[in-house]
Amino acid sequence: MKKIRKAVFPVAGMGTRFLPATKANPKEMLPIVDKPLIQYAAEEAEEAGVTSLVFVTGRNKRSIPDHFDKAYELESELKEAGKTTLLQKVQNVLPADVSCIYLRQAEALGLGHAVLCAEPVVADEPFAVILADDLIRGEDDVGAIAQMAKVYERYQCSVILVEEVPQEETGKYGIVEVENDDGETAIMTSIVEKPKPEDAPSNLAVVGRYILTPRIFELIKETGRGAGGEIQLTDAIAELLKYEKVRVYRVKGKRYDCGSKLGYLEATVEYGLSHQELGDDFRQYLNELSKEL
Ligand code: UTP
Repeated sequence: MKKIRKAVFPVAGMGTRFLPATKANPKEMLPIVDKPLIQYAAEEAEEAGVTSLVFVTGRNKRSIPDHFDKAYELESELKEAGKTTLLQKVQNVLPADVSCIYLRQAEALGLGHAVLCAEPVVADEPFAVILADDLIRGEDDVGAIAQMAKVYERYQCSVILVEEVPQEETGKYGIVEVENDDGETAIMTSIVEKPKPEDAPSNLAVVGRYILTPRIFELIKETGRGAGGEIQLTDAIAELLKYEKVRVYRVKGKRYDCGSKLGYLEATVEYGLSHQELGDDFRQYLNELSKEL
C-alpha cells in the first residue's frame, strides 16, 4: 500500500471574509500568535510523514514561498546580533527532508479546480489536502492528518474529515450521509455541497482535511460548475462514491474556522493561553479584562 507522502495546500482563494486584511496577503499567512496558519498546516503534514508540500497558489501569494524559503539577510543579522533562539525559529520553518512545490491556479475556479492543478505533481499516489484556514489542534498533540493516515492505512480508501455542525449552518459546508457509524469513522453514502438546512441530509459537515485516492483527478475533470458557480471538490467526491469506498472520520481535537473572523479570534485567544512564553501573562490579562466585561 502506498504511503501518504504528498500534501496539497490550496491557497488560491479570494479570502473575501477577511477583507481588507486579505487584499494584498493570503489569509493563510494570518498569524495565530506568532506563526502563520500555513505553517501550522505544514507542520501537521510533516508530522504525518509527508515529505512534499504542494502549494496551489494564486495572485498575491508570494509571501507563502518567501515564508518557506531561506532568508539569508535576516539570518545573518540575527546571527550577528547573537539572537540564536530567533535564528532557530527562522531556520526551522521546514525540516531539511521536506520539499516545497509551487503551482499556480490562474483563476479561482473553485477548490476542486485547485486540487486538479496538483495532478502533474501528485500523479498516481494517494495524497492529503489541507485547507490551512481550518486550524485543528489534535488531541494529545496528534494532528488531524496523522489521525486520518491511520484510518487510511486500516481501510485503504479515501478519508474525509467531518464534524457535527448546528443544523442552521449546513449551507456553509459539504454535508455527508453515512452508514456503519461507530462514532469515530463511518462509510460515506452521499455528499452534497452547501445544502440549505431544510434540505441537508444530516448535520455532519466536511471540514478542511481530505486523504484522497488519485482517481479523484479524472472525476474532477468531468465535474462541471456547481454551488456558487465553482468546480467543487465535493461534487467529484460524490462521483468517487460510485467507484470506491470513502470513509469519514471525526477528528479527536478542536477545529477553529480561521477563515471567519470569530473563529480566528477564538484560535488566537486559545493558542495565546497555551503559549509557552506568554500563556501565564495572557491569562492574567484576560482575568482582569473579564471583570470589566
Ligand atoms: P473558501 O471557500 O474558504 O474560499 O475556500 P476563500 O476564497 O478562500 O475565502 P472566502 O470564503 O472568500 O472568505 C476553501 C479553500 O479552497 C481554496 C481556498 O484558498 C481555501 O483554502 N480555494 C478556493 C482555492 O485554492 N482556489 C479556489 O478557486 C477556491
